[in-house]
Amino acid sequence: MSVSNNFLRLGVLSALVGMSLGVWMGANQDFVLRPVHAHINLIGFASMMLFGLFYRSFPASAQGWLPRAHFVLSVLGFLILMPCLTLMLLGRPVFMPAMIASEIMLVSSMLMFVVIVFMATLKNGEPTAA
Ligand code: HEM
Repeated sequence: MSVSNNFLRLGVLSALVGMSLGVWMGANQDFVLRPVHAHINLIGFASMMLFGLFYRSFPASAQGWLPRAHFVLSVLGFLILMPCLTLMLLGRPVFMPAMIASEIMLVSSMLMFVVIVFMATLKNGEPTAA
């Protein structure tokens, strides 16, 4: 599995979904789901694309269990948080434990990414081939 490619693919798909939701909100003048739109675009599109591009720049960092765990936790957290947030904004705050779990997953995945970035940049500061 290429962590980089998977992040990039998820990123562009998120952009498509997030922008479509933005178009829908504008067309219907219904902005209740504005935070969902913002998070699909910013966690889904912006962050995932940055993760993918990082792993392209530092291919050695994409090897091993840590980047895989980073990917799995990011995607699971994102895919669970978006529907939970949608339901909460629509006045149906069900699945709250799942929502909290997804937030923990996202923060944990970012903690892993912090370790990955520091390991990559402390080595010699230059991208290294896999
Ligand atoms: C086709 C592209 C897009 C459309 C049609 C669109 C549409 C919208 C609309 C209608 C709103 C609500 C404005 C309001 O409340 O007055 C909004 C808010 C927002 N959009 Fe987009 N958007 C698009 C792309 C993006 C992208 C690419 C990003 C980020 C990468 C983004 C981030 C945001 C943010 C942060 C907000 C504010 C959310 C808030 O105030 O809670 N949007 N957008």
